[in-house]
Amino acid sequence: MKSSEIRSRFLIFFEKRGHAILPSASLVTSDEKGVTNSTLFNTAGMQPLVPYLLGKSHPKGKRLADAQKVLRTVDIDDIGDKTHATFFEMLGNWSLGDYFKEDAIKWSFEFLTSKEEGLGLDPNRLYVTVFEGDVNSPRDEEAADIWKGVFKKAEIEGNRIFYLPAKNNWWEAGENGPCGPDSEIFYDIANRFGGKGVTHEEYIDADDKRDVIEIWNDVFMQYEKKDGKIIGKLPKPSVDTGAGLERLTMTIQGVDNIYDTDLLKPVMDLMAKAQNDTKNKRIIADHLRSSTFLIVDGVVPSNTDRGYILRRLIRRAIINTTDKKLDEKRIGIFVDTIAEVYKDSYPEILEKKEYVKKVLTEEASKFGVALETGIKEFEKGNTDPFTLFTSYGLPIDMIVELSKAKGIAVNVKEFEEAFKKHQDLSRSGAEQKF
Ligand code: ALA
Repeated sequence: MKSSEIRSRFLIFFEKRGHAILPSASLVTSDEKGVTNSTLFNTAGMQPLVPYLLGKSHPKGKRLADAQKVLRTVDIDDIGDKTHATFFEMLGNWSLGDYFKEDAIKWSFEFLTSKEEGLGLDPNRLYVTVFEGDVNSPRDEEAADIWKGVFKKAEIEGNRIFYLPAKNNWWEAGENGPCGPDSEIFYDIANRFGGKGVTHEEYIDADDKRDVIEIWNDVFMQYEKKDGKIIGKLPKPSVDTGAGLERLTMTIQGVDNIYDTDLLKPVMDLMAKAQNDTKNKRIIADHLRSSTFLIVDGVVPSNTDRGYILRRLIRRAIINTTDKKLDEKRIGIFVDTIAEVYKDSYPEILEKKEYVKKVLTEEASKFGVALETGIKEFEKGNTDPFTLFTSYGLPIDMIVELSKAKGIAVNVKEFEEAFKKHQDLSRSGAEQKF
């Protein structure tokens, strides 16, 4: 099944169950500086819906669903592994004070496992977690009981419901806004358990090893937070769900990482000339896809806020190529391919692709000049890693390489400490929200 079919099956499934289908909101949060949502970009499908989860009435009703573009840069250091991406699509269905745990859980199970209407995943390979309870909210026996009923009806045996603390099973978008306990659904991608029930310890170990991966999250929004503290219950409990399209696609397409799905493989396949190492290739593919979507949503590279994040993504893509270069031709091929992958779901990329190429090429060329100046400075004898990094933008890996060739040992730990101090002193607004 192609990713486009997964997306459309999801929307049709929930439309049939009374949900109005919304188009994806922009990646850029609606307020200028990201103040209301305290982030510069939408980091979850629920973010554009925060006012409605807090009680405002939505013009399209109480049941909504969409595929929302999101950008999560908190995971930037994990990019290159099997399951993380800075940009991804989150499939979501919402109840705004309408249905609650029972329907949310039943429908998520039905969509994941139904061959006719959903994805037809093997129900025996599903494992779920629920909130174990704390001072803010009780142990979620209600969700656990609903899951027990669902598994019993489907004749699925063995222990597969695990209680976990807030660190795992509590969801909120930040210090402010709606929040509540959640129930996460995992798929045994490695078929480690052969469809059988397992102990708590076995499940935790499989999660640590990424043998099971989270493919769906049902959040039961019941409380409101202000400045990190729960200030009370929401007027009506609501449901916020999220399922990463990339991970669902990887599960359905039987590959062990998101970069081999039809969403990213065409971009990965272009990499032969740019890079051979798998991790670097993934970083380039991820960052160029994110940058393309950001530029289409109106962001331009700069030294502040959103523009700074875009600049870092583009520069990071470049330094991960073997020759630290992305010229106009290479950029053109990458953008054409990304536009082709998304031509039906996000035709605006195709429409704006020449503009995207122009912005990327200009930024790549600016960075090329900065790199060249930095290297010249090094050749002149300025070998201090800190200055080379902060004043010329030379990445530390490059500084180490250049220094090695000259027989100079770089103390990376010392550099990192100095850089951290510098960051703490001059942390910009964008950095804090990155
Ligand atoms: N808002 C929830 C998440 O992002 C569904 O996981």
